[in-house]
Amino acid sequence: MKVGILTGGGDCPGLNAVIRAVVTSARVTWGDATIGFLDGWRGVVDGDIVDLDVEVCRDILHMGGTILGTSRTNPFALDGGADKVMGTLELLGVEAMVVIGGDDTLGVGNRLGDLGAKVVGIPKTIDNDLAGTEVTFGFDTAVQIATDAIDRLRTTAESHHRVMVCEVMGRHVGWIATHAGIAGGAADILVPEIPFDLDEVCERLRRRHDGGRFSSVLVVAEGAMPRGGRDLESAREATSSASVDQFGHARLGGIGSWLSQEIERRTGFESRFTTLGHIQRGGTPTAFDRVLATRFGVEAVRAVHDGDFAKMVALRAGQIVRIPISEAVGKPKTVDVNLLHEVAGAFSD
Ligand code: F6P
Repeated sequence: MKVGILTGGGDCPGLNAVIRAVVTSARVTWGDATIGFLDGWRGVVDGDIVDLDVEVCRDILHMGGTILGTSRTNPFALDGGADKVMGTLELLGVEAMVVIGGDDTLGVGNRLGDLGAKVVGIPKTIDNDLAGTEVTFGFDTAVQIATDAIDRLRTTAESHHRVMVCEVMGRHVGWIATHAGIAGGAADILVPEIPFDLDEVCERLRRRHDGGRFSSVLVVAEGAMPRGGRDLESAREATSSASVDQFGHARLGGIGSWLSQEIERRTGFESRFTTLGHIQRGGTPTAFDRVLATRFGVEAVRAVHDGDFAKMVALRAGQIVRIPISEAVGKPKTVDVNLLHEVAGAFSD
């Protein structure tokens, strides 16, 4: 069988581990031919390919990024894009596609399935916002990086008796903020799922600092916003961006800077901010992400050989299962609010 592989959307640690697992198990276990499409769906639209064999994948398990490159190309946003994809697959004799991506990339895969493409999906994103799977690979590494950063911010915050605001990724959801915030003992965790009241945030800080703790680290997800009114308008102005990708997502960033200025203005506590940005997406994957990526890759090839298409591999209760891609895309998996309130809240004062 000839199997095509692509990685789409924002990169994340563990992509190379999946590529290695898919190629190695397809070639060694099943005797398949494997090719890679470059830069996500862009490579399928343009017919831009590379041969993938076991040799190419020998030393990539621990490497960050993706040897296939990635992009946020949406064939359905391009004139004749979907037809070009189907044409490329036919021309190259690709019988099945293993598509490694998040909501956007897998959503495209699912729509192409309706046109006849045979697709198995593998969930990736540092944001951990894909439904149907308890966790996506890349998330564990991002949380570890953010936790290390919070630990470092804490010592300098303590030395200078400051408030440090740490902005982490998380467009629609606050999984990284919640897990890294709990792991790092953050004074407050602000997520997109729960619009915050800045006066309450400041009041909580005052209570902490009046209690003699003259430093605090706050974690905020890039998509978090104040509850409404003038604060919301002002935060929107500070974080707005004209740049939108082919899936209609605006580039985010800036809420950490806005928050630290507002906190300093309202409380008088000296404040600084740090934006972790793409540092969270780079570098070597954790052992957990390497293992998960490998298990996902092997199972995806098994699904291909079972003819089990339009499915995504997923982690549930420690087991790798297959679910319809349609159940995973279109609606983000949001943070468990109980975790945030009960666990994080218990340590915030
Ligand atoms: O992949 C998800 C993500 O990391 C989001 O958390 C973030 O908003 C976005 O990608 C950034 O995308 P880009 O790398 O295109 O700026």
